Amino acid sequence: MDNNCKIGIFDSGFGGLTIFKCIKELLPEYDYIYLGDNARTPYGVRSFETVYQFTTEGVDFLFKKGCRLIIIACNTASARALRSIQQKWLPKHLHYSLFPFLRVLGVIRPTVEDISKFTKNFNVALWATPGTVKSESFALEINHFAPNINLIQTPCPLLVPLVESGELEGAGVDYFISKYWQQTINQDIINTTNVDTLLLACTHYPLLLPSIQKLLPLNIKILTQGELVSESLNDYLKRHPEMSCKLSKNSSVLFYTTDQCDYFNNLARIFMGEKISSQIAKIN
Ligand code: DGL
Repeated sequence: MDNNCKIGIFDSGFGGLTIFKCIKELLPEYDYIYLGDNARTPYGVRSFETVYQFTTEGVDFLFKKGCRLIIIACNTASARALRSIQQKWLPKHLHYSLFPFLRVLGVIRPTVEDISKFTKNFNVALWATPGTVKSESFALEINHFAPNINLIQTPCPLLVPLVESGELEGAGVDYFISKYWQQTINQDIINTTNVDTLLLACTHYPLLLPSIQKLLPLNIKILTQGELVSESLNDYLKRHPEMSCKLSKNSSVLFYTTDQCDYFNNLARIFMGEKISSQIAKIN
């Protein structure tokens, strides 16, 4: 019987660590494998087909490492690949015939399920990669869970490269944050609304949180996804004991990267607040 299964966390690079950190804090007893596709990041400016291909390769790698519940901790990959993976790719996967309880989950639905709790005037701004904005995935989910919300979306293509280069503060970072906020406000004026909440709908952006908080008006509530996704996973595991009983609980964590381990270890240590020792992943 397969009862030694791990939880896999997949991201295009470092950003998924902002989700994983919260998951690990809330659910420390499980065994995890994190995979960052740093060699091919960013996904946010790539086509649907490319993001789908890269994401299936990452998920496949995690399956082969013994993960049976996989969280795609990347908004772009969740927006562009999750539905096709759940509906088409997974049912045909060899592992699925052997382990029909395999599950792949994303981060968009858990983020928006409770979004109404955070806004008072229902004018919510969203910052994300161009791919996520273009997919309209957040707009569709928000329309489903909170149709009274007026969503103002701004693509922020340069924030991910800044984070992936370890640029988390300074004049360059401030310039782009101010620029994207101005773009948000300009749309807001057109809509004659008044944004009270900014959703950081990209896993990398929480790493810029101190700079964002410094530059935005104090009355704007800034939402990050880590707490929302980890609470949702906790709830999922409670509702699915048939899954949670199969997951091993030795509090172990393995990190894989598709690029240089030293570079990953150094930045990941900052994000996770602990020493990281990654291994190289060959995923295609
Ligand atoms: N992790 C991605 C996301 O949350 C951002 C990084 C990328 O573009 O690959 O959308």
